[in-house]
Amino acid sequence: MNYDEMVLKYKKIGAPVPTREMIKTKEQIEGIRQAGIINNKILDIVAEKIHGGMTTLEIDNLVHEATISLGGIPAPLGYEGFPKSCCTSINDQVCHGIPSEKVVLKNGDIINVDVTTIYNGYYADASRMFKIGITDDRANKLVKVTEECLAEALKVLKPYCRLGDIGYAIEHHARLNGFSVVHEIGGHGVGVGFHEDPYIPHFGKRGTGLVMFPGMIFTIEPMINEGTRKVFLDAENNWTIYTMDGGWSAQVEHTVLITEDGFEILAK
Ligand code: MF3
Ligand code: CO
Ligand code: CO
Repeated sequence: MNYDEMVLKYKKIGAPVPTREMIKTKEQIEGIRQAGIINNKILDIVAEKIHGGMTTLEIDNLVHEATISLGGIPAPLGYEGFPKSCCTSINDQVCHGIPSEKVVLKNGDIINVDVTTIYNGYYADASRMFKIGITDDRANKLVKVTEECLAEALKVLKPYCRLGDIGYAIEHHARLNGFSVVHEIGGHGVGVGFHEDPYIPHFGKRGTGLVMFPGMIFTIEPMINEGTRKVFLDAENNWTIYTMDGGWSAQVEHTVLITEDGFEILAK
C-alpha cells in the first residue's frame, strides 16, 4: 500500500500520521546513506585515536580534520552559535559538552563523542561512548545498559510501529537496571536538515503516538543517568547539560531509516 492509502487507514482509527515531508525520497535516502558512511568513518577515527591525557579540543580537531578530508562539513560548527565541530560530554555531562583545551581525559572517565556530518547537503548524526583506561564497575554498567537501551529500541522498530513503542522500550530497560532516562532532550528527524520533525522522546506509552512509516529517517539517542533523571543547563555557555545530582550519564545515538520490512542503521 502507498503513503496515501496507509494515511487513510490510520486516520480512520484516530492515529497520528507523518506528514509527507517526514517521508524521504529514494534520492534523499541515498544521500543520507552516503553522509552516514562518512560519519561512521569519522567516529571510527575517534575510536582509534582517543586516549587518556588527550584534551577534548584534540578530539574536536580530529573530527574537524577527518570531516574535511572526507569531503564533509561538520554540522555542529556554527549551528545556533555552537563553537566547535562535535560534542564531547564527559562523566556527569549529559550532552552538548563543548570541546576544550582545559578538559583532559583521565583514567576512569567515560565520554560521549557526538558527530554530525553534512555531505552533499545531507545530514547524518551519531554518537558513541568511549571508556578511558580502566573504568569502574558502575561506569561499565552505565555504558552497557545505555547501549542496550538503544538496542531495545531497535527491536521494536518496524514499519507502522508507534513512536511510543520506542520510548517505552528505552525507559523500561533503563528502569529495570536502576537507571533513569533524561526527558528534556530527544531524538529527531534528520537528513535534509540537522533537527527535523518528528521529535523522538526516549520515554512513552506502547501503542500510542505517531505511526512510523517506511521512508522516515530519524535519530534515537537516549541519555541514561545513574541517579536522578533531572538535569540543568550550564548557565555560562548555555549549551552543556549536566545531571542535577552529579551522577554520571551516558548516551549513544544512531541515525535510522524505517524500511518496507524493518529498519536500516544509516549512522552509528
Ligand atoms: N548532535 C546533537 C544531536 O544529537 C546536536 C548537537 S547541536 C550542537 O542532536 F550544536 F551542539 F552541535
Ligand atoms: Co541527534
Ligand atoms: Co548527535
